[in-house]
Amino acid sequence: MNICFVTSECAPYVKTGGLADVAASLPRALAELGHKVKIFMPLYGSVPVEEYGFAYSNDLYELPVPMGDYSAGVHVWYGTLARSNVEIYLVDYPPFFHRTSIYTNDADEGERFILLQRAAFAIMQRYAWSPDVIHCNDWHTALMPAMRAFAYAWDDLFRRSATVLTLHNVGYQGRFGPMLLYKAGLPFDQYYPGGPLEFHGSFNFLKAGVEYADVITTVSPTYAHEILSPAYGEGLEGPLQRRSADVYGILNGIDVDEWNPSTDQNIYVNYDFASIEKKEENKRLLLTDLGLPVDESVPLLGIVSRLVDQKGFDLLHPVLEPLLSHHNVRLVVLGSGQANHEDLFRWAQNRFPDRVRAHLGYSDQLAHRIEAGADIFLMPSRYEPCGLNQMYSLRYGTIPVVRKTGGLADTVHDFHETGGNGNGFSFHDYTPHALFTSILRACTLFPDKTAWRRLQKAGMTTDFSWAHTAGLYERLYERAVAKQLG
Ligand code: ADP
Ligand code: GLC
Repeated sequence: MNICFVTSECAPYVKTGGLADVAASLPRALAELGHKVKIFMPLYGSVPVEEYGFAYSNDLYELPVPMGDYSAGVHVWYGTLARSNVEIYLVDYPPFFHRTSIYTNDADEGERFILLQRAAFAIMQRYAWSPDVIHCNDWHTALMPAMRAFAYAWDDLFRRSATVLTLHNVGYQGRFGPMLLYKAGLPFDQYYPGGPLEFHGSFNFLKAGVEYADVITTVSPTYAHEILSPAYGEGLEGPLQRRSADVYGILNGIDVDEWNPSTDQNIYVNYDFASIEKKEENKRLLLTDLGLPVDESVPLLGIVSRLVDQKGFDLLHPVLEPLLSHHNVRLVVLGSGQANHEDLFRWAQNRFPDRVRAHLGYSDQLAHRIEAGADIFLMPSRYEPCGLNQMYSLRYGTIPVVRKTGGLADTVHDFHETGGNGNGFSFHDYTPHALFTSILRACTLFPDKTAWRRLQKAGMTTDFSWAHTAGLYERLYERAVAKQLG
């Protein structure tokens, strides 16, 4: 199959979260199954194209992209995703994509991603490349199904193209004014109260995707159920319920080469379950690098996360002081985001300088080192469509403590609830108390090396690769294509 995969971020070129990881690893896995995959994404100012071996496309020089009231002349760089034959097209339009961050609150935020989507169509048209599937991801690219149905309905190239929308997070929907319909090439007659392109008085990109995509997927089976309810649907539960026959939950895989403790170049010492004692060395060196006292018997808790409400850090606010005052634990945090959560960890480091380190920024290397060096990994998410860090943790023998929601519920099985056969600790109630007791349950078990090794083994020997799940996407693509033809 020809698969057009459109995304706002893709690792290693640009990454703010798990979407970037999936946008690289899923196309790679699909290519391994024999499909022809092309990724389309913006060329942000921060991406060093030449370093990554991208080439400027002379034949796409000033490619005109219709934007309603004007035409944007975009340039295109192309290359190949490392370790694969997946082609990548970077849409180069500096007025839109050379900004200080990849997502903005600027007035033209919606227009920026309309351009990306229309540029993807324009590039396919220029090469007369007909996709069997257009796979879009999150609100930034969720208009492509509607665009295919209206703006590009005239073009035979896309007549048989099925559309698949993956919801990585329904908390971000892309709500804009209806004037953007014109730039997107979508008809105003579909915009009326309750109409397919209208949602509560705005033009909501994600909702438009839910209406028009042939198939909707989300990134874990549990999240696929959750988003049908008001508690998790973020207002989209109604439209999603109407499409529920076409909503599927497929658990993300992880890149098992990138996240492999026995080959990882970012960590201090490589190890696997057979040499698990070398994990201690990673802990020792991490603590030393961070300037924390080294004591292997004290559990080291790790956090690597966007510091946003979604991740449940409000549960940690009331818990952190008693935890660090009354229990012998250490904490290392890597993340950035909302000021209140950053302040919490800044405060904790000042108050407990020999117990806490907070690195309020972004670092791929430190993320890997925390996965390798920590004993326990915290993810108390309010909601979690899939979550990758708990799977990275399991693979690195770092025991996750998570809230039982979304992909966390599908991947982490509580030690006590399974009579000792689990791979981590989890709690259901969204309360500080539930988090606190789960952290303590983990810390209490930590000195019992036999039980701890069992937990580590369960995680380290589980296959989280795309081997199973890429095939599920393949089958869904076939279903979407059949639907489109029928
Ligand atoms: P989300 O996409 O909601 O942020 P995921 O668990 O799916 O959550 O993916 C997060 C990804 O981003 C992981 O690969 C994680 O290691 C990475 N990450 C998050 N924050 C940072 C950071 N500050 N530095 C480095 N990597 C980070
Ligand atoms: C989103 C979700 C996260 C998921 C990632 C990749 O950012 O918040 O749970 O793992 O997308 O699908």
